Amino acid sequence: MAEIDFDPFDPAHRADPYPYYSRLRETAPVWRSPRGAWVLTRFRDCTEVLRDARFGHGSRQRLLDKSNWRRPAPSQAMPFILLDPPEHTRQRSLVNRAFTPRRVQRLSPWIKRLVDSMVDEAIEKGEADLVESCFHPLPATVISELLGVPSQDRELVRGWSRVIARGVDPDYQRTSDEKRERDEALAAFDGYFRELVAERRREGGDDLLTELIAARDNGSALSEGELLATCTMIYVAGHETTTDLLSNGTLALMRNPGELKRLRDDPRLLDSGVEEFLRYDPPTQLTRRTVLADLELAGHDIARGDQVVLVRGAANRDPEVFDDPDRLDVGRPANRHIAFDGGVHFCLGAGLARLEARLAFESLVTKVGDIELATDAVPYKDNLTIRGPKELTVRLTAR
Ligand code: HEM
Repeated sequence: MAEIDFDPFDPAHRADPYPYYSRLRETAPVWRSPRGAWVLTRFRDCTEVLRDARFGHGSRQRLLDKSNWRRPAPSQAMPFILLDPPEHTRQRSLVNRAFTPRRVQRLSPWIKRLVDSMVDEAIEKGEADLVESCFHPLPATVISELLGVPSQDRELVRGWSRVIARGVDPDYQRTSDEKRERDEALAAFDGYFRELVAERRREGGDDLLTELIAARDNGSALSEGELLATCTMIYVAGHETTTDLLSNGTLALMRNPGELKRLRDDPRLLDSGVEEFLRYDPPTQLTRRTVLADLELAGHDIARGDQVVLVRGAANRDPEVFDDPDRLDVGRPANRHIAFDGGVHFCLGAGLARLEARLAFESLVTKVGDIELATDAVPYKDNLTIRGPKELTVRLTAR
């Protein structure tokens, strides 16, 4: 096979990794990287792996230890995003009892007011970094409100979350200082939620945390460690990704003014528009799985313990599944993207993310007139697994 010069983590690809993904998908769709991981870029291979129980995380079999990716400290429980069935199934079904669509839907009018006021403020200023003024604080405020993090603590918690999100890339990508900061942020989260859980146990509350403490399934409940790991996971997963969906979608619309016009002319396209942003430029670009049994995949023999990396950004633009995949089409029918996954780990917060995005884009397309980038280039966060602009400074007018 020809030598392939591909490193998905190379910052040179960060702003636009898609031409590199296409080349890889065309020349070596199941590619063994120099680090030994199998990198998959075809939609059909990625979805097959997501649905196949022979691919997982392998924490019980101690296979996770072979990976280069973060593990919690021995004193911390593993968040269930890193667990396989049956442990994953038990915790996920307990959490499903608390994290209900009704609880999410109840927040809708409040989210609408919040995002409208942020967008109004940006318009009034005439120029604003939308990441800092709206796209990061919006989901952070929403997830804090949902979980029950008090207003006075939100800035502190948001800071830890940023550090952890950065640390989601594999460990070989991190300096030792970054790893230490990430582990400190995780410990800070643990300590913080330990106190909040104790307070809710004493006094109760009307929030997700209280429901998570109370959730019971056949007499089983989340242990203290599981609760803490779940809260941190929900907090971090619940907003860094949504920030990127809002930024990536806005950027895509600025670069495709015809699609922005379509949304303005027909806001009924907002739902399919959000799905298209998720497909076109997904916030989570990569997912890792461990192979739990020797097997064959697309003609390759793959050994137990090997690592598989699924490149969602590539699968979502596979021409075998999506017509004209590099084109943004806010009305794209039957959009089967895998931005929220496609197996047992299907995103817990997909409903919340869709609601926030729908309300944010509704506000943007109905309130904003002209909108253009105020900078020549868009700087990206130094992170690929959860990828998006570090800032998005725009000039904008009222409609
Ligand atoms: C646009 C925003 C979002 C995107 C693109 C996204 C994407 C994903 C993806 C791809 C996974 C699967 C990861 C894997 O299989 O390794 C996942 C899982 C998860 N997401 Fe999201 N997510 C988003 C928003 C949210 C929100 C708002 C929440 C919570 C409130 C959330 C909570 C979770 C949790 C807890 C899991 C683990 C589920 C499990 O292991 O069963 N996510 N998400």
